[in-house]
Amino acid sequence: MPRTLVVHAHPRPSQSLVIKAMQAVFEGDAHTEIRSLYDLYPDFDIHVSSEQQALARADLVVWLAPIHWYSVPALLKHWFDQVLAHGWAFGPGGDALRGKAAWWVASAGGSMNDYLPGGAHQRPFTDFVAPIEQTARFCGMRWLPPHIEYGGHSHTGAQLAACTDDLAAQFARHRAAQPSDQAAA
Ligand SMILES: Cc1cc2nc3c(=O)[nH]c(=O)nc-3n(C[C@H](O)[C@H](O)[C@H](O)COP(=O)(O)O)c2cc1C
Repeated sequence: MPRTLVVHAHPRPSQSLVIKAMQAVFEGDAHTEIRSLYDLYPDFDIHVSSEQQALARADLVVWLAPIHWYSVPALLKHWFDQVLAHGWAFGPGGDALRGKAAWWVASAGGSMNDYLPGGAHQRPFTDFVAPIEQTARFCGMRWLPPHIEYGGHSHTGAQLAACTDDLAAQFARHRAAQPSDQAAA
């Protein structure tokens, strides 16, 4: 079975509705490891080799976090800065992530209409994806279409259930498409 690493970054998990519900989708998979960065590193002192070892074990890497200022929360950005190191993730000899799949799963406070010209955020969310996408691509990863849940914090129970059903279906498709060590052997 392909292995999944979920890098979870929510600064206030006790107040989370959407990310918490989406996290439960991944918790249901026996071949998935979840690392909650704000639990592991409340002081932002990331243990780089532990993170790199977790990445090395994975075929599919999920970045699971709320959108903060059109990007990822600060600790996940810091994780990129620290863990995706020269000579390991890119540059000479830096091929540790090559061929692994990268999937950005996020919740946005804004609705889809907010992400239209004239809406609160003026631009489609796809305009804000490029830095994360190119980070993954620069490290030789295979970029999967992001899963962005819009307007999540005002979801009803039924909308939240639809969100997690959709995520679970996408996750099943991505897992089925991943090469694994066993399949390659
Ligand atoms: C510091 C901060 C920045 C935020 N920036 C954005 C943003 O740029 N775009 C957006 O749509 N929502 C933004 N939000 C709203 C969060 O994305 C939203 O509350 C969260 O995704 C809801 O998920 P949760 O229930 O798991 O917390 C921001 C929230 C905070 C606290």
